[in-house]
Amino acid sequence: MRQMPPVLFLTLTLLDFNAGHILPGTAEGGSRVQQVWATAGSSAVLPCLLSPGKIRRSWKQLPDKTSVLWKRRGKSAHQEPHLVLEVGYSGLQKTALPMRPRVSVQASALRNGNFSLRIDPVRSEDAGLYEARVAHSVGAQSCQVELGVVTVTLSPSSPVVENEPLLLSCNSSHRAGLLATRWFHDGHPVPTSGTFFSSHGALSIPRAATGDAGSWRCELRYADHLVVSATYNLQVLGFDGPASPVVYAAAGSAADLPCTLSYLPSALGIKAVTAQWSRLTGEHLQDWDSPQNSSGRSFPLRLHTVGPGDAGQYRCAISVGSKTIKRDLTLAVITVTPSIPGPVSEGSRLLLICSLTHPWGHERFQWKHLDSAPTRSKLAVATSRNLESPTLEIPQVSGKDTGRWECSVRGPAGSLGAAEYRLQITGAQVSSPPAIFSGQVTFGLTLVLFLLLAVCVLALALQKRARPPAFPALEGMVALTVPKKKEMEENQKEKIQQDEC
Ligand SMILES: *[C@@H]1O[C@H](CO)[C@@H](O)[C@H](O)[C@H]1NC(C)=O
Ligand SMILES: *[C@@H]1O[C@H](CO)[C@@H](O)[C@H](O)[C@H]1NC(C)=O
Ligand SMILES: *[C@@H]1O[C@H](CO)[C@@H](O)[C@H](O)[C@H]1NC(C)=O
Repeated sequence: MRQMPPVLFLTLTLLDFNAGHILPGTAEGGSRVQQVWATAGSSAVLPCLLSPGKIRRSWKQLPDKTSVLWKRRGKSAHQEPHLVLEVGYSGLQKTALPMRPRVSVQASALRNGNFSLRIDPVRSEDAGLYEARVAHSVGAQSCQVELGVVTVTLSPSSPVVENEPLLLSCNSSHRAGLLATRWFHDGHPVPTSGTFFSSHGALSIPRAATGDAGSWRCELRYADHLVVSATYNLQVLGFDGPASPVVYAAAGSAADLPCTLSYLPSALGIKAVTAQWSRLTGEHLQDWDSPQNSSGRSFPLRLHTVGPGDAGQYRCAISVGSKTIKRDLTLAVITVTPSIPGPVSEGSRLLLICSLTHPWGHERFQWKHLDSAPTRSKLAVATSRNLESPTLEIPQVSGKDTGRWECSVRGPAGSLGAAEYRLQITGAQVSSPPAIFSGQVTFGLTLVLFLLLAVCVLALALQKRARPPAFPALEGMVALTVPKKKEMEENQKEKIQQDEC
């Protein structure tokens, strides 16, 4: 019997057709209960679909005589079912009070046959058995849906701030013995030893950190082999950046101490937070400015001119309601101290000492002559001097060393900050235009003095000519010298002679 007899085949088709079209109510008796799981706080769709074939066929008969009524079974067997939502023939929707704003069916439900009930957001008390009755002109059909709700509870409640102890717990509406609870963070199983531990299925985080943010999924295993899971998206309000940042600033420059939250307060449903900066001096905490309310994320402290005395510990405290989070940071000031204060004379030995108020040990120093001509560059300098030490030695300062010297402090991840020193040179040969001028003046004065001396000697000689010469040789010498002088000068000297000699 390879082939089905044609008559029998036709009969089966007809029966199927009849079941769908003429007697839709028969589906009601045999409809099985569908199970839907939802997480409290998210949305759930309780499905109830009429097959498109059935819709088309019933439409042909009486298109506008369809209505749907969603009811919920009472918690105990003897409780009456109560109305959840009704869509009348006209399309008018009616919802019962307890779930009113949270339940809906598609507006086009009567046309496309999708009578699914949407609940948004789901609450743990919504768990239970729901039933939809779709009434056609020619019969009725029902859908039964069991809604299970998994609840993830967080204690203390949101917003979670860093360093706070947390407890995440999972619970479901399923009535069977719970065998085990497993936890996953961003998809990875969480070992419930060490940082996290589990008690009665709840996960404990002793100190929440911003790294603990993300999706947490619990998996509940029941004695009847049912496995239910739910996900909670955890946000931890903390600070961006490293835990104990160090800010490097050059003495004399401005410094910005960062304080940035990991989330915008509004992302956690917080309108405003209060920020307060203070400075740790010894054991004391001294308020730096008055507290500021803000809805922003960033609360930097700006120091306009930093000196070595400003270096130290600062604290940014952000208050979120009754909770406060704090971030301590260190301001390290970079200073360049020359061995010779003020301008340096050429040829002298100069030491430039680059110092850091708060060294951590991993810093390296690098010297650079910023104003050197690029061609006869760093290479030449680098070979003769150690540019990688906190102290730069210039054994003989020369003209080409003038200008700005930069000491940059570098950490493993690159430059941390830099300070500059401006080298100025003084000295006869170097300060050229005034040097030439003073040299001429000196020469002129020497000449004038020499001439005056010569004139005095001459005058003495003239006086002695009246008497017999005591030293003829000297007279001859003077007489020989005099004619070499210019006549003009001699005239001048005769006038001066009376005053000077
Ligand atoms: C039926 O409607 C619900 C919303 O009410 C929607 O989520 C679902 O995807 C729809 N199903 C189909 C098959 O269109
Ligand atoms: C878990 O949920 C059920 C009902 O949904 C409730 O009766 C029970 O007290 C809950 N347990 C915990 C630990 O929250
Ligand atoms: C900041 O807000 C708190 C309450 O959130 C309020 O008590 C305080 O007066 C506000 N301070 C300023 C400076 O606005």
